[in-house]
Amino acid sequence: MLRFVATVLLFSAVTCQDDLVLRLTNQLNDLRAQLDAIKERCSDLDPLGGMVEEDGYFLAFKLFAGNGRDAFGSYGSLDENNDVVFQRYVTPSSCRHTGACGHNFRGDFLFYWDELLVDTVKVNIHKNGEVVHYAVFNGTGSTYLNWFNQTKLLESSWLDLKTSSTNFFSIYGNSKLRRQFYISSNSTDCGSDAGWLVIKNSKEKCSWGKLPKTAKYPVIFYANPNHAVKFSSGGEDLTE
Ligand SMILES: *[C@@H]1O[C@H](CO)[C@@H](O)[C@H](O)[C@H]1NC(C)=O
Ligand SMILES: *[C@@H]1O[C@H](CO)[C@@H](O)[C@H](O)[C@H]1NC(C)=O
Ligand SMILES: *[C@@H]1O[C@H](CO)[C@@H](O)[C@H](O)[C@H]1NC(C)=O
Repeated sequence: MLRFVATVLLFSAVTCQDDLVLRLTNQLNDLRAQLDAIKERCSDLDPLGGMVEEDGYFLAFKLFAGNGRDAFGSYGSLDENNDVVFQRYVTPSSCRHTGACGHNFRGDFLFYWDELLVDTVKVNIHKNGEVVHYAVFNGTGSTYLNWFNQTKLLESSWLDLKTSSTNFFSIYGNSKLRRQFYISSNSTDCGSDAGWLVIKNSKEKCSWGKLPKTAKYPVIFYANPNHAVKFSSGGEDLTE
């Protein structure tokens, strides 16, 4: 009788431990699955507090053509920050690659530019996900508004950009002509307007800047060959 009870007790103790191990194993597996899911969603996060990296650079700003956001308005907007951890957590990273969420990416970086000791700044022009042109600037001692300047240009896929004379080369561009992120070699008249890059947020006097009614601003015009072209020769696209 006594022996029988002892056996039952032993048996129940083992059962209890089995249950516990099973429960803990299940919990562990659940946690692992959750961790994997979080890792996957946060795959863009890096050790530096989760700054987004692209092409070996921290992503400061990405502009998408056709989303209706004024380029300079968005870049300079001090109350726009798409880089906060929770926003990035709930926003699929595909939205930052395709612009599908309808907004630009304005990173935390722009708020701390002066303190971050920026070394170089790179502009990539994308078409269908591929970089078609780029320009690298010396960022030493720059502010987030003045690095885009020919005197700071280090190299570019536009081979004549460093040495050509320019009559506009700035983020502000020409507000009268409504041209931003504007690099031009000539803006004497509509026919001779020539250069490398311009972002249009609205209509203007020149027909090359007028778009069909269905077209959506902003529109990014860039010189497709590796040198300046007349803007009237056409071409519009997507950039960051
Ligand atoms: C970048 O600019 C800084 C400050 O003007 C200068 O000291 C440095 O030599 C420049 N770097 C290059 C690679 O031109
Ligand atoms: C570009 O930098 C030079 C040298 O610092 C400065 O004189 C010039 O005004 C700048 N250009 C613009 C458009 O700000
Ligand atoms: C700008 O275009 C006008 C008209 O075609 C031309 O006379 C002038 O030489 C050009 N200027 C530059 C700097 O290319």
